[in-house]
Amino acid sequence: MDSLKGIRIEGLRKRYGAGDTAVDALKGVDMEVAPGEVVGLIGPSGSGKSTLLKCLGAVIEPTGGRMILGGEPIYDDGWKIRDLRALRRDSIGFVFQAPYLIPFLNALDNVALIPMLAGFSDGDSRRRAAELLEALDVSHRADAMPSRLSGGEQQRVAIARALANRPPVILADEPTAPLDSERALSVIGILNSMARQYETAVIVVTHDEKIIPTFRRIYRIRDGRTVEEAGEGRLVQNMMEN
Ligand SMILES: Nc1ncnc2c1ncn2[C@@H]1O[C@H](COP(=O)(O)OP(=O)(O)O)[C@@H](O)[C@H]1O
Ligand SMILES: [Mg+2]
Repeated sequence: MDSLKGIRIEGLRKRYGAGDTAVDALKGVDMEVAPGEVVGLIGPSGSGKSTLLKCLGAVIEPTGGRMILGGEPIYDDGWKIRDLRALRRDSIGFVFQAPYLIPFLNALDNVALIPMLAGFSDGDSRRRAAELLEALDVSHRADAMPSRLSGGEQQRVAIARALANRPPVILADEPTAPLDSERALSVIGILNSMARQYETAVIVVTHDEKIIPTFRRIYRIRDGRTVEEAGEGRLVQNMMEN
């Protein structure tokens, strides 16, 4: 892969606590995701999935190893970036199991808020939000408040929001868990085409049997270490063709 873009993790370690009660949640994780690629991260409960995403998202500090995001070394046995808030805001899109939309803003403004916070004008931010809602096929719901949107629509707005600052990286933690099969596959199809369109590297943490066959590459994490596997890469092709 182009080592200057995407995500690269080398020998990443995370220890919670110290002494007798310390937990080594990550014991040397290696991972690589190319721009435009969507990989699955799967593993049993307690295996370290959320810890890995939180380290990558600069939400918690690793204990050692290296992380490179979008060509920037962000961690190398210590943070290489001073402004972690700006890193999270500008370089990383988060998608969670629950959409966490702001209840008193309509769909468009939930998305537009993100570029506004990054310093873009209201007009530019709204234009960008409208474009993304269009791409995600929810532009007809732009004026609707979150409570009026279906689960699938809310999750598409949440994906639009994650893409709003055109981050090189998207981290999705169980993004399809609350959705039925058709909506779950549609969300994964959208993540794939958005990843390609915007050259975004995407990691999807999931238990969801419905979407696991869609990944071309999977990292299985067990007891704080990852193993790479070939996935089936099914359905995604079909979904992206239409
Ligand atoms: N804040 C924390 N303090 C101490 N131990 C933690 C903390 N968060 C997670 N752990 C432990 O780290 C390990 C990995 O947890 P986690 O990353 O949440 O796994 P997963 O998301 O795969 O279920 C587990 O043993 C968990 O108990
Ligand atoms: Mg978890």
